[in-house]
Amino acid sequence: MSQRETWATRAGFILAAVGSAVGLGNIWQFPFKTSEYGGATFLVVYLVAALGIGLPAMLAEFVIGRKSNLNAISAFEKLGHRSWKWVGILGVATGFWILSYYSVVGGWVLRYIGGSVTGAYFADPAGYFGQVSAGPEALALHALFMIFVVAIVAGGVEDGIEKATKLMVPSIVVILGVLAVWVFTLPGAAPGYSYFLSPDLSTLSLSVSFDPLPSFSGPLTEIIPFAVSQAFFSLSLGMGAMITYASYVGDDQSLFGDSITVVVFNSAVGILAGLVVIPLLFVQGIEPGSGGAGALFVSLATAFAELPAGRLVGAVFFAVVLIAALSSAISLLEVVVSYAVDNYGARRPQISAALGGLIFLLGIPSAWDTAWLTWFDNLAYQLLLPLSVLGILLFIGWVYGRPAVEELLNGSSMGSGVGVSWLWLVRTVVLLGVILTLALGVQTLFFAENPAIVPPL
Ligand code: PHE
Repeated sequence: MSQRETWATRAGFILAAVGSAVGLGNIWQFPFKTSEYGGATFLVVYLVAALGIGLPAMLAEFVIGRKSNLNAISAFEKLGHRSWKWVGILGVATGFWILSYYSVVGGWVLRYIGGSVTGAYFADPAGYFGQVSAGPEALALHALFMIFVVAIVAGGVEDGIEKATKLMVPSIVVILGVLAVWVFTLPGAAPGYSYFLSPDLSTLSLSVSFDPLPSFSGPLTEIIPFAVSQAFFSLSLGMGAMITYASYVGDDQSLFGDSITVVVFNSAVGILAGLVVIPLLFVQGIEPGSGGAGALFVSLATAFAELPAGRLVGAVFFAVVLIAALSSAISLLEVVVSYAVDNYGARRPQISAALGGLIFLLGIPSAWDTAWLTWFDNLAYQLLLPLSVLGILLFIGWVYGRPAVEELLNGSSMGSGVGVSWLWLVRTVVLLGVILTLALGVQTLFFAENPAIVPPL
């Protein structure tokens, strides 16, 4: 095996982790899922999940990655627990699954850069979305997006990923910030803020009955799996990405500090995107929840059509979203590529291209019809993501506890109390939270009146 690459600088790792975390998950999924599943209630559950489950789970992935210095699958063997390899495999499979439709949405973004420059969507934003989001054009753009991803990953860790992300992080914040301020001045935005920011406490309820199997009802039944998995998706958890990135990190770095930076920053970007998109939906009289996967694209396109210099602003905005999407997508592909490079001595460029091709094929249904995209997405949220994170937590909590605490404390000035508290949190509350999420997801997927597992054929 050749000498393994490492991040050139400490900031390189944080930036790459933030670059992986900040992506379509924050800018596209978060506002769309929030407006679909209960507005402010969703936000509350999401924030609790990001801090209460996401942060401890991210530390677990960081520990596995840094301790093993290996890719997400081999890591478990190296730590002496071969039988837990399935957790790594499940993570990689989840990443594969998600990247297949992530890339389709990345293709839409590409299309919208062009559409902004020419003003193609100005006349009929909703009609335009319908036209470009599915069918041959969407397929071609999905291919183009995958080609970009492969090209960056083929370049290797330092060259490709580190450089691409340095530029993206600040520009996203600035553009979203300016847009948020502009939206604030629009008439009709006010109800959007209350929908997004002031939760109706009566919707925070969940009841369970046993007959003899447990079955859940109440508004949270649907909100919890989507909001908790949104936190996983958005923090790049349960897909081996953070394990892989942390495997390139040195022992002198505080994993704890790094994870807090990523979680806080990532949630802030999501909320900022929500502050742009959700009030805009209200300004345009679009019922929240009716926008579906097109919410971001339709609402912003309408806004750019009205803005002075809308073409320029639109093109710049979608260009930045593209960079965010790319930096996330490369971390998904990197997971599988690093496995092949570590184990089979595969050559980076070839293996990146081969795997990119497979992911493209898996994404064809989603590019052809958005009903398929929604189906892929639901399966990821309601089953794959919580299951995969559950595996990580079980491993760290109940199998690899003590050495994990030691590894966590390496490079940090914190006392061992913090590490032990983390471990107990992982073993108990955090684990139960994920089990509940999974149970609720499985209920709607398999046991509801119209089980969501049925594919849209
Ligand atoms: N977190 C990314 C986003 O929000 C998606 C992603 C998930 C990227 C997992 C890499 C790994 O868009």
